[in-house]
Amino acid sequence: MHCGQLIAEQNPTKLERSVRIGQNIFLDTNLSEPRGQGCISCHRPEHAFADPRPASSGAVQTRKGNRNSPSLMYAALVPPFAFDEFFTPDGEEVYAYEGGLFWDGRSRDIFEQVQQPFYDSNEMNLKDESQLAARIRTSAYAKEFRDWIGDSRWKNDKELAYHSYLALVDFLQSPMFRPFDAKIDDFLDGQPNALNEIESRGLALYTGKANCSGCHPLNSNHWEQPLLSDFGYDNLGVPSVGTADPGLGNHTGNPGEVGQFRSPSLRNVALTAPYMHNGSIKSLREVVDFYNTRDTNRKRWTKTDFPKTVNRDDLGDLKLSDSEIDEIVAFLHCFTDRNLKQINKKSVFPEAPPGTPTSESKKLFFPVWTHRLHPCYQGSTIFPEDKTE
Ligand code: HEC
Ligand code: HEC
Repeated sequence: MHCGQLIAEQNPTKLERSVRIGQNIFLDTNLSEPRGQGCISCHRPEHAFADPRPASSGAVQTRKGNRNSPSLMYAALVPPFAFDEFFTPDGEEVYAYEGGLFWDGRSRDIFEQVQQPFYDSNEMNLKDESQLAARIRTSAYAKEFRDWIGDSRWKNDKELAYHSYLALVDFLQSPMFRPFDAKIDDFLDGQPNALNEIESRGLALYTGKANCSGCHPLNSNHWEQPLLSDFGYDNLGVPSVGTADPGLGNHTGNPGEVGQFRSPSLRNVALTAPYMHNGSIKSLREVVDFYNTRDTNRKRWTKTDFPKTVNRDDLGDLKLSDSEIDEIVAFLHCFTDRNLKQINKKSVFPEAPPGTPTSESKKLFFPVWTHRLHPCYQGSTIFPEDKTE
């Protein structure tokens, strides 16, 4: 069958069902050992689905990872992990890593990522897929799940787990996670008065003197709208917390990449304190202060994990005045989506603004669709019900 045809023929309610199940899984605190922890425990909607704790404790209260839980807004749009070709401003060709999920990019894409928290001993701590399947079979959404995948898959642990991951991906791709309705979007859409005077000065510094846009660009690269990251890797020399964390270098095995982490999207950054991979910096003002004085105020910014690979060229002594720092911070507040500001006590989740494109219409744009999960990919079981058994 021609692939375009396959896509056109899908029944949209299948996707809706999958999203609903994904949402149920996201909220379910019975999918951990001991029970009591779910995705929602460390990805709080009112904090743009990040965690206000520098590092989150796991289901086993005494265990803890050493990284700060990132926002899940726009996470499904992060490009896949790749070794790519770039050109420096002087036209020199360089190869570098970009994209991937987790601070160190160790999951190629979101489909690979959503499988990890269930079995991570610092997180939900389940033994294996059979345990996950058993918990889901006794959940409140069991019937809906079973109707969605049919009896034979429902009884098979691997198939049931696999479809849980698919449902989570569909959920994380849903419109409420990609509203693009911040002030910066008004500005980029051409509304001349979107930014006030202070924010406009912040913008000029962001793209000029402070060169934040060097790594958190305002132009679109991986999606129609800008995600405010180039998703490249760097060692900024952020303050140490606990055991040294080798980041990217840990899984590429390249000593030059030790201490490097993926540049995060700055969308909704005003809601996601504390900052950096280890949650070492408390506020946005301190983040900008760090970029500004890392190399001139050694007393304040003392120990970092891997001094040898720190980027000394692009940051560290920006010579920003106090009021310039304030202006940049004011500009960073323009990245907050209005739908997150409007979450009220009654609704756990934000709403997607009217007019946000459906996931159906964006299907081929999601990074995860470009390979393994693409319906054309041989062996894909994404539409198992379309196959004859
Ligand atoms: C115990 C707290 C905790 C729980 C529970 C948890 N997470 Fe996370 N999550 C984190 C932390 C911490 C990271 C960053 C870890 C790293 O980079 O190594 C993370 C990273 C992620 C990322 C990557 C985002 C990015 O930009 O790279 C996604 C997506 C995600 N989690 C989704 C989920 C889902 C889905 C669940 C439930 C199945 C879940 N998380 C459960 C703490 C948690
Ligand atoms: C050379 C590339 C580069 C430049 C230039 C840069 N950043 Fe970053 N930014 C990163 C990387 C990489 C991280 C993650 C570092 C880590 O966690 O170790 C980061 C993290 C951040 C964070 C923390 C986000 C979070 O969710 O924890 C903020 C805020 C931030 N940058 C703002 C800025 C601002 C403002 C500027 C300009 C003053 C700037 N960045 C310039 C690469 C860069």
